[in-house]
Amino acid sequence: MEESPFVQQDVVMSADHQLHSDFPAPAGCYKYRRLFLVLLSCSLFATALGLGIYSHLQKTGDPWTSQWKLAAPPCLSPACLRASEHFSVPMDPFSHPCDYFLFACGTSGSNPENDSQRFNGVFSEDDKRRGARTGGLRRVSKETDVQRKRDGLQYRFPDRQTAFLMAIREILEAGEEDCIGAAEQKAKQFFKSCMNTESPERVGAEPFLKLLQQLGGWAVSGVWNQTDFNHTLALLMSQYSTFPFFNVYIDEPHFQFPIDWNNKTHKSKASTKFLRPFFLTCGQYLALLGVSPGETTQHCGLYVSLSTTLAVATSPLHYRLGQKLLYHKITIQELQIVAPAIDWLSSLQATFAPLPISQSDVVLVHNLPYIIQMSQTISQWQVQHEAMGTGPLHTYMMLSLLQTLIPALDSRFFQTTRNYSILTGDTEEEKPRWRRCIQETERGFDDVLSRAIREKHAQEEAEGLIQDVYSSLKKKILDLHWRDEKTASFILKKIQSLNPTLTIKPSHPSDVELNQFYQEVEVSEGDFFSSYLQMLRLEQKSRGRRLSHASLTQGLSITPSILNDNILISAGIFVSPFFHSSYPRALNYGALGSLLAKDLLHLLFPDIYTQASDPASESKCVWDHYLSVTKGLGQVDMPFLPPSNQQEVWVQYSALQVALDAYKRSFTKNRADSSLFGLSYIHLFLSSFTQVTCAADTLRGLMPFQPSFLVTVLCSNLGFCPETFTCSSQSQSFLGESCLR
Ligand SMILES: *[C@@H]1O[C@H](CO)[C@@H](O)[C@H](O)[C@H]1NC(C)=O
Ligand SMILES: *[C@@H]1O[C@H](CO)[C@@H](O)[C@H](O)[C@H]1NC(C)=O
Ligand SMILES: *[C@@H]1O[C@H](CO)[C@@H](O)[C@H](O)[C@H]1NC(C)=O
Ligand SMILES: *[C@@H]1O[C@H](CO)[C@@H](O)[C@H](O)[C@H]1NC(C)=O
Ligand SMILES: *[C@@H]1O[C@H](CO)[C@@H](O)[C@H](O)[C@H]1NC(C)=O
Repeated sequence: MEESPFVQQDVVMSADHQLHSDFPAPAGCYKYRRLFLVLLSCSLFATALGLGIYSHLQKTGDPWTSQWKLAAPPCLSPACLRASEHFSVPMDPFSHPCDYFLFACGTSGSNPENDSQRFNGVFSEDDKRRGARTGGLRRVSKETDVQRKRDGLQYRFPDRQTAFLMAIREILEAGEEDCIGAAEQKAKQFFKSCMNTESPERVGAEPFLKLLQQLGGWAVSGVWNQTDFNHTLALLMSQYSTFPFFNVYIDEPHFQFPIDWNNKTHKSKASTKFLRPFFLTCGQYLALLGVSPGETTQHCGLYVSLSTTLAVATSPLHYRLGQKLLYHKITIQELQIVAPAIDWLSSLQATFAPLPISQSDVVLVHNLPYIIQMSQTISQWQVQHEAMGTGPLHTYMMLSLLQTLIPALDSRFFQTTRNYSILTGDTEEEKPRWRRCIQETERGFDDVLSRAIREKHAQEEAEGLIQDVYSSLKKKILDLHWRDEKTASFILKKIQSLNPTLTIKPSHPSDVELNQFYQEVEVSEGDFFSSYLQMLRLEQKSRGRRLSHASLTQGLSITPSILNDNILISAGIFVSPFFHSSYPRALNYGALGSLLAKDLLHLLFPDIYTQASDPASESKCVWDHYLSVTKGLGQVDMPFLPPSNQQEVWVQYSALQVALDAYKRSFTKNRADSSLFGLSYIHLFLSSFTQVTCAADTLRGLMPFQPSFLVTVLCSNLGFCPETFTCSSQSQSFLGESCLR
């Protein structure tokens, strides 16, 4: 690893310091000797006094106050060595104390152009000079980029989702010897088989054609056994995770084309301009499946026509909410009467096996008008096309199955889908294959993966951090002034009764149960198509099991959620570079501690701004501070922030305070911590906060400044930080009250 610039800086600083203090009297200054002696004895006295106070604090003071500015021994664990690669000098809040926008996120996270526009004109004298030379802020950022790259330093953390997926990938790619159970072994094999692109390319469309044959063929190729509609539908739903006419929650299925909603007639209509591309794409699929062009027009025409007819009764969420169409309770028997074209009982039994389901069971339907119209359409099409033998309902189901299986087919299929979705306005970048493979693995093996993540990452240190952060958060909330008694007692009760936790018993299946559950699964590394079919069956099986056990597994999510009296915190957030059990706690609390505090504040108090008076005044204090330090540097003409920004400023500032308090708590309990780059505890804590706050925070758009500016605010309290932020070229003094509480 390269030597850290932090360390170099420190060495240079102390050498400088020694130059001044150890050689204060050059030869020739003889007459000042007496004065020098006086000064020397004064300084000796001061030193002795200082040492006295220091040792006094060591003995009696709280450990935090006496030690927080000290540098701890370096952390040399492999995880720490890797972590130091993620840290970058420009992210050290003290390396560019006056660059309120630059040392922060700069080019990371969101769009850098927007950032620079947002902060246009707000920069330090230093940067103005640099800016004048290079022709603007954007160039300055680029220069810094180049510098960072040259230094071999990565200047940003990955976003949390990516970090989480990378942790899963690490588990899936670990050597066999690390493997614990047979279930995990199979997950690894599945992932491997997904990453191996060779086998799909080799076999082309063959596996799908074979499957098609097993399902009775289709009229498109002229060989169709007139299979039973209900039978095929139940098969697709239970074995292939394919839901052509309604989804598993008994709701509208996903249609492959954009749908326009008419606000006046309350009707939906497939967007006309995408119908032709939709039709052509259908033709491309059929061509890939070896269907002769002569057949394509008729069958794709019927496919498009049936799809658009079904789409007519769909409606957007806001309308369904307004009409109370969601969560409509109905027994299966009643459903059979209003929508007779589907054999509801047998298809739901197949889908949720082994859960016993009977006619009198109640199901939740989320758009009954759609379900009714869908049933009518099916009946009509069944009658109309029976004589012609074109089997459009069956073809429709088979094309739905094709959609499900495209990830397991050769890349031409994927490219066709991709081209069509780009055409319909999908601007998202294509995900790298490993990400897609992890998502597919997750579908069939989520229990195995969440277990592995828990075992590897959610250790004692994670529990400790959760408890410390929650205690500090409680303290912060209990100190607030509420607008009325009722709210106050409600919120205080809520926060006292909730219990943040990584696990809920008895939710997690044991090793034995897991291995049993995956017993019949045969993953073949060289045959991705068949592995994929296995995965689809697993997905269905675990759906049924989850319902029958009312299991509380949180799945693989990284956001906390509330369940009864528990705040479920996903083990998946405790992954590097945000957290590691061997990291200095200053890093863990500064990075993950502040993220967790932020998550919890958003989850528990979404409306705190209207419920308590402090958030408004605290965020105003922070904003005033920002205006005062950036005065004269550019025009930020926004004396007052809109409420949504105010709330977010408060949340982020509070998260920093809570995390710091949590770290102090932890430090008081256990006074040993390690460090990176020779930084003091507090310095490392604040640097970690700055780094992490830039990692693609979805709500960063609500912040009117770079969140790392909050460090400046925190440090405006003299003596609170390792150094004060003084910018020689400007009057930076903030004379208002400190925003600390
Ligand atoms: C950046 O600004 C452009 C134009 O103002 C806007 O269209 C785009 O959505 C912004 N991007 C982000 C990430 O804020
Ligand atoms: C379809 O019909 C043919 C000929 O009758 C038969 O050999 C084949 O097994 C049938 N396939 C299915 C899936 O029923
Ligand atoms: C349609 O109406 C809903 C509710 O009245 C409204 O929220 C929505 O913005 C409207 N959409 C259009 C495109 O006018
Ligand atoms: C599916 O089964 C139901 C119930 O037995 C029946 O009423 C309906 O006609 C069948 N649908 C089709 C399209 O055959
Ligand atoms: C997708 O679009 C690209 C660019 O237009 C084209 O080169 C490619 O052949 C298309 N692929 C398929 C499978 O249609």
